[in-house]
Amino acid sequence: MLIRLPATSANLGPGFDCFGIAWQCYDEIEFFPSDTVHIEGCAGEYRNENNLALRGWRAAFAAAGRRAENVRIRFGRTEIPVCRGLGSSAALSAGGAAAADALFSLGLGRQGILDAAAAVEGHPDNAAPAIFGGLTASAVVDGRAKTVAFPVSEKLRFTALIPDFELSTALSRSVLPEKVSRGDAIFNVSRAALLLHAMGEGDLSLLAAAMEDRLHQPYRWGLIRGGERAAGLARDCGAAAVCISGAGPTLLCVAGEEDFPRKIREALAGALPGWTVRALPVERRGIAAAE
Ligand code: HSE
Repeated sequence: MLIRLPATSANLGPGFDCFGIAWQCYDEIEFFPSDTVHIEGCAGEYRNENNLALRGWRAAFAAAGRRAENVRIRFGRTEIPVCRGLGSSAALSAGGAAAADALFSLGLGRQGILDAAAAVEGHPDNAAPAIFGGLTASAVVDGRAKTVAFPVSEKLRFTALIPDFELSTALSRSVLPEKVSRGDAIFNVSRAALLLHAMGEGDLSLLAAAMEDRLHQPYRWGLIRGGERAAGLARDCGAAAVCISGAGPTLLCVAGEEDFPRKIREALAGALPGWTVRALPVERRGIAAAE
């Protein structure tokens, strides 16, 4: 079974560990029932028990209360850059769980696949949009992920600015404070509410205010070499809002103009030549068997 797994961006500014959105940028992986566990088509360092597609596969059996079957996993086309804040690990966990559910009729459905993937990931903010598609808000309630989908206006155009270095989620989380002020909490809660409305309406001026954050981004900019410069260039080129995609280091820009990717590509080529630009149409269906 060939599964197509979408890239995702978590957080979207104020929705730390809650919001996520899926993109038309995919990894493709094949899963075959097998007598032994076998992983191929990826670097040697991923061909072991820690492989996230394998862990997602096994988590699905655990969620169904069954003993895990063996599997052969073959990595095909991989478009999602690794350790760049575009949900490559959540895509693999969700893909493994979805494949197990489909091939062995585990009866998990999307909610059960999400529970399995979130158990591997530790939080559901990337796995939820990968599985359901579109824009999602997720919370962990009594140990289970609760996810709600929200509309995203066709008027909005999203573009990723991807640096030429990796940033581990663990490092990016290690710089965050344990406690935040009431003022910062209110700042984020209010903007998160406005952001959902702005995304649905395609309201760029509201989005410019609503995508601001005080819970994680201020602490993370220092880990992203050239990040604040790239964000400034993006605004000069017409982006209404810029945030860090997930734990970074990729930046996510929202613009109204079709021409934005070309403009920012030219600006970055001069200023930060290692960075690449990718337009990201919204993936609205979620994880799927590839056609
Ligand atoms: N919400 C997470 C973070 C996403 O920002 O650390 C990374 O998995």
